Amino acid sequence: MDLRYVTWAEVQGSPEAGYLADIAKAVEDPAVKRICDIGGGANPLISLADAKAAGIEEYVVTDIDAEELAKAPDGYTKVHADAATPWPEGIGSFDLVFSRYVAEHVPDPAAFHRTIFALLRPGGRAMHFFPTLYEPVFVFNKLAPEALTARLLHQAQEGRGEGGDHQKFPAHYRWCRGATKSQLRRLEGVGFTVERYVTVFGHGYFWKAPRLEHLADATNAWLCRRRVAQFGAYAMVTLRRPAAD
Ligand SMILES: C[S@@+](CC[C@H](N)C(=O)[O-])C[C@H]1O[C@@H](n2cnc3c(N)ncnc32)[C@H](O)[C@@H]1O
Repeated sequence: MDLRYVTWAEVQGSPEAGYLADIAKAVEDPAVKRICDIGGGANPLISLADAKAAGIEEYVVTDIDAEELAKAPDGYTKVHADAATPWPEGIGSFDLVFSRYVAEHVPDPAAFHRTIFALLRPGGRAMHFFPTLYEPVFVFNKLAPEALTARLLHQAQEGRGEGGDHQKFPAHYRWCRGATKSQLRRLEGVGFTVERYVTVFGHGYFWKAPRLEHLADATNAWLCRRRVAQFGAYAMVTLRRPAAD
């Protein structure tokens, strides 16, 4: 198991960029032909042109929210489904299933990971990117009223000039932790082999308050050196369904 601990600064303020690069690399594997973007909704993670260039034969985008799914460009196979319920027979199996900013919204994470396990062919991989507790910003997001956190998120995204279509969805953060022993045990309990688990410390939400940002960066560098996964801010996870279960 490849366990890594990095700071927000080390990933140049964008752990997502690293995650997207990992996915781009994973789809280049010639054995990967059918992929599924869970909760891809308005923003599928790979463009159709890139998927085609990588030799992908079918790119399924799925979302629990039909309106979000409708925003995905034409050309993707769109499946309106809750990833935390078993999918209908006949959907076939996938070589790679991935999600970004979805796991934290799922109230039943065991069912979510079980569904993804069932969607994968033996030997197939699941890759997830999600924010984690107990990073204080996300503890606040979990506990504070939705209207307030939606306003703050909007301000932060606007200020950072983030593109894409970003709506706010309620976050539960269940099974959204850094590489703690219990987190690894839960994922292994579903049947996955944990191949790689990157715990990222720190975030970019304090950009308007430089002193606070400096203090948070120093604290996160300290937590990272000591590998205190309980206070990670993001996780990038690669799971494998064993070749023979
Ligand atoms: C914050 S958005 C992320 C969208 C996209 N993955 C991205 O990175 O921009 C979360 C998405 O997950 C979807 N979602 C939440 N729970 C889900 C579930 N149980 N099954 C499938 N999709 C879900 C939401 O409808 C929404 O489109």
